Amino acid sequence: MQIWLDTADIEEIRDAARFGVISGVTTNPSLAAKAGHLDLRAAILEICSLVDGPVNAEVLSLNARDMIEEGREIATWAPNVVVKVPIGEEGLQAISVLSSEGIAVNQTLTFSVNQALLGALAGATYISPFVGRLDDAGNDGMTLVAEMAKVFKIQNLDAKVLAASLRHPQHVVQAALAGAHVSTLPYKVFKQMFLHPLTDVGLKRFIEDWRGLVQV
Ligand code: E4P
Repeated sequence: MQIWLDTADIEEIRDAARFGVISGVTTNPSLAAKAGHLDLRAAILEICSLVDGPVNAEVLSLNARDMIEEGREIATWAPNVVVKVPIGEEGLQAISVLSSEGIAVNQTLTFSVNQALLGALAGATYISPFVGRLDDAGNDGMTLVAEMAKVFKIQNLDAKVLAASLRHPQHVVQAALAGAHVSTLPYKVFKQMFLHPLTDVGLKRFIEDWRGLVQV
């Protein structure tokens, strides 16, 4: 399973990139607004300079024709840009057309296996189930990840399961076990993955033991 960063904050991406394990970035309009990016193209290009893998930018249009036009434009920004398109009657048409033109599409705002199946049949490269938002609504978001992974495998569909809206490190473990191809993580969750109290205790003891020997 690949790990991507779910942020539009350039400093967070720069910091995380130095560990060599981040292979993509997802942004959305809320994240871009939070980071204060008035020029989304410039922000995406800067992110592309920091990360080699897929960098996701979302369309803002609400009808299929405009989504297609916007998606085509976004796809010209850089070779590794992925166009995020929300599923729906308008979105699915845009996903079909953009995918048929060879543009990598990430179907976003996916909350059911049927939505995922439609996106996969339309040719989306990635389908993003929103785990945390399903949990917030009283559902089990990770069940959707597992069912999508199973259906794509049984049905021999090429689309990749991109676990999104992940809120804590245990979500990452669960997504990996459920068969997600990618997990996209907030910076905070990524940094939490490093931590374990026994690592700190173990390191402290190693150093203390070594210093004790050296002083004897
Ligand atoms: C990523 O592609 C999604 O836009 C993101 O994970 C949504 O996360 P949220 O539900 O925490 O806003």
